Amino acid sequence: MNQRTILVTAALPYANGPIHLGHLVEYIQTDIWVRFQKMRGHRCVFMWADDTHGTAIMIRARIEGRSEEDVIAEANAEHQRDFAGFQIQYDNYGSTHSDENRQLCGEIWQAIREKGLVKEKDVQQLFDVEQGTFLADRFVRGTCPSCKTPDQPGDNCSKCGTTYSPAELIDPISTLSGTQPETRSAKHLFIELEQLHDFLDEWTQTGDHLQPEVANYLKGHFLGDPNHDDGSKPLRDWDISRPAPYFGFEIPDSPGNYWYVWFDAPIGYIASTQQWCEKNGESIDDWWRNDATEIHHFIGKDITYFHTLFWPGMLKSAGYSLPTKVHIHGFLTVNGEKMAKSKGTAFKAETYLKHLPPSALRYYYASKLGSRLDDIDLNFEEFINKVNADLVGKVVNLASRSAKFVQDVGLSVAYPDDGGLFQQAAVAGDEIADAYENCDYNKAMRLILELADRANPYVENAAPWNLKKDPTKARELQDVCTVALNLFRQLVVYLSPVLPDLAQKTGELLNDPIIGWDQSKTPLIGTPVDKFKHMMKRIEEKDVKAMETESKSEADAVLTEQQDVAPTSQYNDSGQPMIDEPMTDECTIDDFMKVDLRVARIVQAEHVEEARKLLKLTLSLGGDQQKQVFAGIKAAYEPEKLVGRLVVMVANLKPRQMKFGLSEGMVCASGPGGEEVFLLSPDEGALPGQRVH
Ligand code: 2FM
Ligand code: ZN
Repeated sequence: MNQRTILVTAALPYANGPIHLGHLVEYIQTDIWVRFQKMRGHRCVFMWADDTHGTAIMIRARIEGRSEEDVIAEANAEHQRDFAGFQIQYDNYGSTHSDENRQLCGEIWQAIREKGLVKEKDVQQLFDVEQGTFLADRFVRGTCPSCKTPDQPGDNCSKCGTTYSPAELIDPISTLSGTQPETRSAKHLFIELEQLHDFLDEWTQTGDHLQPEVANYLKGHFLGDPNHDDGSKPLRDWDISRPAPYFGFEIPDSPGNYWYVWFDAPIGYIASTQQWCEKNGESIDDWWRNDATEIHHFIGKDITYFHTLFWPGMLKSAGYSLPTKVHIHGFLTVNGEKMAKSKGTAFKAETYLKHLPPSALRYYYASKLGSRLDDIDLNFEEFINKVNADLVGKVVNLASRSAKFVQDVGLSVAYPDDGGLFQQAAVAGDEIADAYENCDYNKAMRLILELADRANPYVENAAPWNLKKDPTKARELQDVCTVALNLFRQLVVYLSPVLPDLAQKTGELLNDPIIGWDQSKTPLIGTPVDKFKHMMKRIEEKDVKAMETESKSEADAVLTEQQDVAPTSQYNDSGQPMIDEPMTDECTIDDFMKVDLRVARIVQAEHVEEARKLLKLTLSLGGDQQKQVFAGIKAAYEPEKLVGRLVVMVANLKPRQMKFGLSEGMVCASGPGGEEVFLLSPDEGALPGQRVH
């Protein structure tokens, strides 16, 4: 076998919050892949760490009256406790706040500077004089510049929905000190990513580094697609520094400025490897500057930009290996809805483990994860059914119905005739392995369950419980159980990246530890069989309910607490949208009022033949006033689901004659386009025709 050398990472969890079931989609996905590679005999290491820097942690430490180091040490311990609970194994768990990381950031920064990629620009931001800190949007409140409602957040008005920058608020107040902040200009350092455009175009668009839909997305949104566009688009400069105070590393050649957390976070992958190398007498260059080593990153789709443009750009500039592949997954929804801390559906790992077994979630996620970026839904009814029907009913059942009959005599010394079942399942191993390799775990689970569906009728027909009653059939009984236990063991070998616990127990039962994929090719014979011990419990609905209840009360407690203290770091909203589309020039209220935004109801929605992106909407403004609008939302919405819903429209937009008819306005939506379009909805109570201001 050609042994591969593989370095794997998962996104580094922020140190300012607990691990929840959304995070675990990725961590379980990564752990399965690493375990699979190890089982196949490859040299595979998983390098991981906490992501510790940024304003959120600094503010939290301040509010809680302790040091940032204290906050991140506590998070590190809690995160690793949760990972152990979910049987996630890694080779090193570091921290981005480490000496190794500081050193590597300095070296990489130096290389980027030497390549002439860094430039300085002034940036305007609100500054809290009392706290001595620049304020992120979420730390400012004030009167809405549009509807004049007091005490609104720094980015948009909860009353009228207007978005603005914190500097536009009337009488802005810092939520950190209660004082009025000043607008200050500060020098920031930027990386001119555009200089790497050709390289990034080539790297993202050729080879197998990215899933095809990711490569297309990058081409369409950032790099430019000559087939659909006038040519390539310039990449925006990347704001890489933050002025003091900031919890992070000070930039050595720019005192008073700190690397933005997203600069030092991915370098944490290398720093964690460095730490591991030091402990294990390895050389970092063998892992990060060696073409023979594969580097695989697992991340969620929200941080695509950082890992597929900035990060390869940084690695390239500093002479490190580029990722072999960035594996990107979708988000987790819960019972069809977005996870929400306020509703208690952002279940904490710790809360789950109090009520339910880790293997159930590992299996459920595996059965849902494919190689694409689709979101996956955690549906508790399906969760209970899958675990009980598949694992308990079809897999473990094979052992529980046969092991007890051979615990005194062990397995037969020669493998009996099983009608070709073992052999067929051994052959299926290659296809199952390919599915794991391609992160198509859903397919792997399906193939494994198909094998279970063939093994179970064998046991049913052979009915060892009947053979047991006839002492003259002792030999036959041993043979039947030998087959059943071997078919079971074969399934467990295939499942062992997902269910290490079941693999361990099976190894103990049959006195032969499960360690390698090839164990699925040869039946086990003549070994003693231990007394059958319980291997996997059925999931009870009451346990799921108990977890839901506990999570809800945790959410309520947090909510109550938040009413008493200033907002903390609970929102980890990515800065990506503002990077993708920075704020446009200032406008006056008069400019804004020229745009007549109205609440409208969609009364009809239809596909437009031969238009790839458009839906034709009929919008009612109340009474008999209607407008027809062609909206580019076809990839995101099914027309029948839109009828009846309220939207916000630009009602006084000059009508435009299109190929398909007259378009008399626009519906308001956010998002980059394609499937990611999000229509704005007014709160309940709004009436068609009402003006939005
Ligand atoms: O999005 C996040 O949760 C980040 N903490 C991920 C960082 S990944 C890497 F770049 F460090
Ligand atoms: Zn307002």
